[in-house]
Amino acid sequence: KRKIALGLALTTVLATPVLADDAALREEAKGLFEVIPMQAPMLENNNAVTRDKVDLGAMLFFDPRMSKSGLFSCQSCHNVGIGGVDGLETSVGHGWQAGPRNAPTMLNAVFNIAQFWDGRAPDLAAQAKGPVQAGVEMNNTPEQVVATLKSMDGYVSAFDAAFPGESDPITFDNFALAIEAFEATLVTPNSKFDQWLMGQDGALTDQEKNGLSLFVETGCASCHNGINFGGNGYYPFGLVEKPGADVLPEGDKGRFAVSETADDEYVFRAAPLRNIALTAPYFHSGKVWDLKQAVAIMANSQLGAELSDEQVDDITAFLTTLTGEQPEVVHPTLPVRTSATPKPAP
Ligand code: HEM
Ligand code: HEM
Repeated sequence: KRKIALGLALTTVLATPVLADDAALREEAKGLFEVIPMQAPMLENNNAVTRDKVDLGAMLFFDPRMSKSGLFSCQSCHNVGIGGVDGLETSVGHGWQAGPRNAPTMLNAVFNIAQFWDGRAPDLAAQAKGPVQAGVEMNNTPEQVVATLKSMDGYVSAFDAAFPGESDPITFDNFALAIEAFEATLVTPNSKFDQWLMGQDGALTDQEKNGLSLFVETGCASCHNGINFGGNGYYPFGLVEKPGADVLPEGDKGRFAVSETADDEYVFRAAPLRNIALTAPYFHSGKVWDLKQAVAIMANSQLGAELSDEQVDDITAFLTTLTGEQPEVVHPTLPVRTSATPKPAP
């Protein structure tokens, strides 16, 4: 009996300094990061996220007939069951072509200031028009997408419901707005980190807290901050030391292709790190399969820091606490094709 009481007393004494540290660390973290809200956020382009629009967006997201071949849907490369990625080095699309970049997740993408590794699309609606037309992705045309949608009654009524009062609701613009509304619901709240930030000391282990503190002190948080731990600013990949071509292939110069200014060579969006433990392989090249290795490369290339194995382990442990509750998406039943539906083509 005595022993137990002593044990308890000791725990309390030992726990006190950790609690004090938690308060200080949490204060610092609150200045840098934000929790993911439980609900879909308002969209900046005033695209109202209504039930009907979200349901339509889900249909479009899962429908392979939006691609020329009838094989690829958004889900092919952004699988909602595996963290919103395809798990490939670079995505494979139309005609079994490998694209130039790794597919980033669309989970929480609504919180990024701009879309794509180089931020070339301002929002999710603008983004959604890209893959449908990209030769190496879905290789379709806006006209054929509209013709496909108009050929099926199920889509005619779904667009009517999603865009009430519009005389001709089946347009490529509305296609993109519906997908954007669906994607806005794909958020992953309640990660261990978010629970901790909201006040639950026990949500993170000591190792994970140590990793968080290293993440801040080493300087990672100067680029990976905000609600998504990134997705909100642009930096040269190789700010201090350019990684080798095995990680950073020379042909892809990032934002240089968008702005054509020399300062933007190899500049990329600080990658969002929410759910990062689910989305290997890493970097726009998809060349790195191990999160620990990605952390060590970042420390080196962005900060000129040589981290010990233990420090890399701790930061990696912390990063795994950014995995949130995954959205439970029900695969929608899709409208049946008619004789007017364009046939799949190679
Ligand atoms: C990027 C959604 C189809 C491969 C993205 C992003 C979103 C997205 C939101 C940006 C995420 C971010 O920057 O954090 C969609 C939607 C699709 C679709 C709504 C259907 C209309 C596809 C398909 C493929 C694919 C079919 C593969 C063949 C990629 C790749 C990127 C990307 C490689 C990165 C491209 C770059 O940064 O240049 N997608 N996607 N996507 N997606 Fe998709
Ligand atoms: C990408 C972690 C420091 C800018 C990444 C990725 C990870 C990561 C895991 C890969 C994300 C993915 O593939 O989805 C870290 C850690 C850091 C750190 C642990 C501290 C040791 C920094 C700093 C900057 C930065 C200081 C800015 C100067 C970027 C950029 C990318 C990225 C631009 C995208 C690279 C690409 O195009 O492939 N970071 N990062 N990071 N980080 Fe960091």
